[in-house]
Amino acid sequence: MAFIVALLLLFFSAFSQGNALSLNYYTKTCPDVEHVIAQVVREETSKDKTVPAALLRMHFHDCFIRGCDVQRKQLKLSAPGIVSCADILALAARDAVVLTGGPTWDVPKGRKDGRISKASETVQLPSPTFNISQLQQSFSQRGLSMEDLVALSGGHTLGFSHCSSFQNRIHNFNSTHDTDPTLHPSFAASLRSICPVKHKAKNAGTTMDPSSTTFDNTYYKLILQKKSLFSSDQALLTIQKTKDLVSKYASSRKAFNTAFVNSMIKMSSITGGQEVRKDCRVVN
Ligand code: HEM
Repeated sequence: MAFIVALLLLFFSAFSQGNALSLNYYTKTCPDVEHVIAQVVREETSKDKTVPAALLRMHFHDCFIRGCDVQRKQLKLSAPGIVSCADILALAARDAVVLTGGPTWDVPKGRKDGRISKASETVQLPSPTFNISQLQQSFSQRGLSMEDLVALSGGHTLGFSHCSSFQNRIHNFNSTHDTDPTLHPSFAASLRSICPVKHKAKNAGTTMDPSSTTFDNTYYKLILQKKSLFSSDQALLTIQKTKDLVSKYASSRKAFNTAFVNSMIKMSSITGGQEVRKDCRVVN
């Protein structure tokens, strides 16, 4: 199962250093942690190319619900107590980006894991049908700016989407249009053939972009061509400020990479946890 990444670490006992994140948090207690995680992410990715996208998205969701504190259960590790599950996920997400050809960065560490995990809270995540003001609100509630919104949306250079996430744009869009008029007509037609009105295949869908296992700036080029999957992607063209950033990242992979790194560090520093879990699947 792609979502389950077994991260094997050494055994240590819990070691708290307060709430501030730091680059050398585990230097004394678990100096090998970054190597071990990088190796596991590499091995899992060589078996299953969907792993990096899943890790990146998981980290985004983790940070957006209660601050990056791992409320979910996908991580398994045999190193209870010392390295927080939230840190493992933040590091694994960085490694996922690097492995797929994206930029690297130093991940500040020292997150605590959460004591609360509620499936109902996933409604707090931004929806793919959001318009620009809803996206802005969702990000600003977490201290993230419009620059962060545009840069982090570039995570959609990796991975896969199910029909249900963009169905609204290709069938019964509104009272006057069956299809979202901001979609390129031939692209809309291809999405409709993958996802017909009464599609039965539960797993039907399409890759986020044609180079969906490579971390690049194709996502922004596609938005400009009206070939992005979600209304929330297309919404980045609806105001000048975000539109200018989309154009900038579409024409410069380097500018995108720099912005993505800055915003990832910001997003992954939204803290919210209280403990270091002994088992990532359950609170202590
Ligand atoms: C801006 C608001 C966002 C919305 C509305 C959104 C929405 C979605 C949706 C609906 C999917 C497809 C789910 C499915 O059908 O299976 C998806 C996939 C994905 N998202 Fe986002 N997302 C947003 C931001 C982000 C951010 C900030 C990141 C990471 C930096 C991210 C990374 C991903 C990745 C990597 C996938 C592919 C997952 C996979 O293939 O396993 N998204 N997103």
